[in-house]
Amino acid sequence: MTSLTTRRFLQTAGLLIAGLVLSACGKQEPPATTAAAPEASAPAAAPAPARTYVVGTDAAYAPFESENETGTIVGFDIDVVKAAADKAGIEVKFVNTPWEGIFNTLQQGDRDFLVSAITITEERKQSMDFTDPYFDARQLIAVKQNSKVAKFDDLKKLKVGVQTGTTGDEVVSKLQGKNSTNIKRFESTPLALKELEAGGVDAVVADNGVISNYVANNPGAKFKSVTDEAFQPEQYGLAVKKGNTELLNTLNKALAEIKADGTYDRIYTQYFGAPPAKPAAAEAPASAASK
Ligand code: ARG
Repeated sequence: MTSLTTRRFLQTAGLLIAGLVLSACGKQEPPATTAAAPEASAPAAAPAPARTYVVGTDAAYAPFESENETGTIVGFDIDVVKAAADKAGIEVKFVNTPWEGIFNTLQQGDRDFLVSAITITEERKQSMDFTDPYFDARQLIAVKQNSKVAKFDDLKKLKVGVQTGTTGDEVVSKLQGKNSTNIKRFESTPLALKELEAGGVDAVVADNGVISNYVANNPGAKFKSVTDEAFQPEQYGLAVKKGNTELLNTLNKALAEIKADGTYDRIYTQYFGAPPAKPAAAEAPASAASK
């Protein structure tokens, strides 16, 4: 099982300190990775290798996470986690994980944490723990350019595609009733958008970043997006197994660091053209300002 032993926690903490010292001296080279630290190694000997954390992500959600031509998982979420991992002195390995069942992989210990544009919801908080928010989002509607849809309510009697079990699914289920046969549920958001292109559904509801990205990059699909004030603000968090406070604290500290030193804004600008309008989360008062 992958639960951290106290010793591993101490090793991680030691590495964290070593990493901070190193970065204070200049360039920080991540230590070579080994999946598991040998149980019997004396803590006083050479520093333990950084533990590799297995990170689950449903990599069909550009620009947050997707597979490029070479099969590498890339995106905003990936860069944020990599930058945070650098700060924490931990190694991360991203594993493409279907959205359906992604939360179970935490429960089973197959993934140490998840980054997947996951909206922090009260319901999900019952079964997993979330880091501080790292991104603000909302739902957005995609329709064909010639569509008459002007607001969310117009979707009441129409065929709407969603990704199963997402917050998009939730809002449409609320509008039409959970068992409405006009809700077409897909295992990925790109599949829902393909169906819109093919005319099988009248609209798709999903996170704004993903809809905007798709509309912009697929002019041939002749889509437009429709906003609605009725959509509640959402925030993304990294998810860990419920009770894994060690990892949660490590990730929160690292997220705060990349927000404080401008790394987060740099990544955000790279993907969205401009820095975020306001901090994604209530910022802690300049905690670790010392360099
Ligand atoms: N933010 C939405 C939710 O949490 C959708 C996330 C889907 N993410 C993905 N990688 N497919 O429900």
